[in-house]
Amino acid sequence: MTIRSIAAIAAMLLFAAAAPGHAQDTIKVGLIAPMTGPFAPNGKQMQTAAQLYIQEHGDMVAGHKIELVVRDDAGVPDNSKRLAQELVVNDGAKFLMGFGLTPIALAIGPIATEAKVPAIITLAGTSIITEKSPYFVRTSFTLPQSAVIIADWAAQNGIKKVVTLVTDYAPGQDAEKAFIERFKAGGGETVESLRVPLQNPDYAPFLQRAADAKPNALFIFVPASQGGVVMKQFVERGLDKSGIKLIGPGDFADDELLNGMGDAALGAVTAHNYSAAHPSAMNQAFVKAYKAASGGGRPNFVGVHTYDGMHLVYAALEKTGGDTDGTKLVEAMKGMAWESPRGPISIDPETRDIIQNIYVREVKRGDDGELYNMEFATFENVKDPVKAAK
Ligand code: DHB
Repeated sequence: MTIRSIAAIAAMLLFAAAAPGHAQDTIKVGLIAPMTGPFAPNGKQMQTAAQLYIQEHGDMVAGHKIELVVRDDAGVPDNSKRLAQELVVNDGAKFLMGFGLTPIALAIGPIATEAKVPAIITLAGTSIITEKSPYFVRTSFTLPQSAVIIADWAAQNGIKKVVTLVTDYAPGQDAEKAFIERFKAGGGETVESLRVPLQNPDYAPFLQRAADAKPNALFIFVPASQGGVVMKQFVERGLDKSGIKLIGPGDFADDELLNGMGDAALGAVTAHNYSAAHPSAMNQAFVKAYKAASGGGRPNFVGVHTYDGMHLVYAALEKTGGDTDGTKLVEAMKGMAWESPRGPISIDPETRDIIQNIYVREVKRGDDGELYNMEFATFENVKDPVKAAK
């Protein structure tokens, strides 16, 4: 190597060190998402939406370059825990984000607390999670937020007898409890409560039992990306001809999968925080941009939660002037309010949980021939009712 080339390399290194966006100034956001396995569609929504946010808003915030680091946990909590540890300790990530299932969020809580790193929950929806670490901030939802609203709607719209069918883990139990209590208070009766395993679920025998009970409506909660399978088995058993109305939180009526469900989904009424048909200018632009970024697929609530999670990263860093102290960042996030593709949202300064509108929607065919959750009633600024009752 000549003296001249050594000098050239030294100059390049010096330039790189001084240039904005050098590794030292880079802030890593660790997105822990199921990129493989049964929940892979959720991982794709998270990654696409987070990247879209960065593409739209640039990758520089308060003088720092933002780098999204995506890690695939395949939806397995042991993986998520290991990945969170690696992201914080080896990669120096200043934010953790994602967490597709409640057990994953619960596994990551102690790591966030220990490392004092903000952990933004963009899917898991069990009420209690945010109480498990002062570094949790949630941009998704809680199941009771929508379960009580659909319970009121059902009781007030001639539905007397319901069977509930939920995935048998914490968010399903939260949804079931919130619905049953509220529906009973409104004069309704839940005649049977069915719980389906989270792993390798076969809904068919449960759907048959639900049909045999001859309810007016079937309340369904399954985690995001599983709605297509339930609807397929619902149709295979001929239940779409039974006159049983489908109701629930909107997780099963996923905007990404809805078109694949076909006419059987028509008339399903759900309460939820996001519809691809939400008629704001911001949402219309978001849906268009997401489709372009994903190769045609529609965004669903998982994508929107993550898009908003990235907003929280940007807005918190702007507020701290680029200070990455985790405690200061969480403080900055408390009380933050902004417009999301789903409508106006804010972070409850008391609980670090999300306050948002919950919409009641019905599946209808749109003018473009596609199926949509058409919003027809809005409940504004809904807090998690479980924490509100404490
Ligand atoms: C959870 C996961 C989901 O995909 C969903 O739609 C709701 C809740 C959860 O594990 O908390």
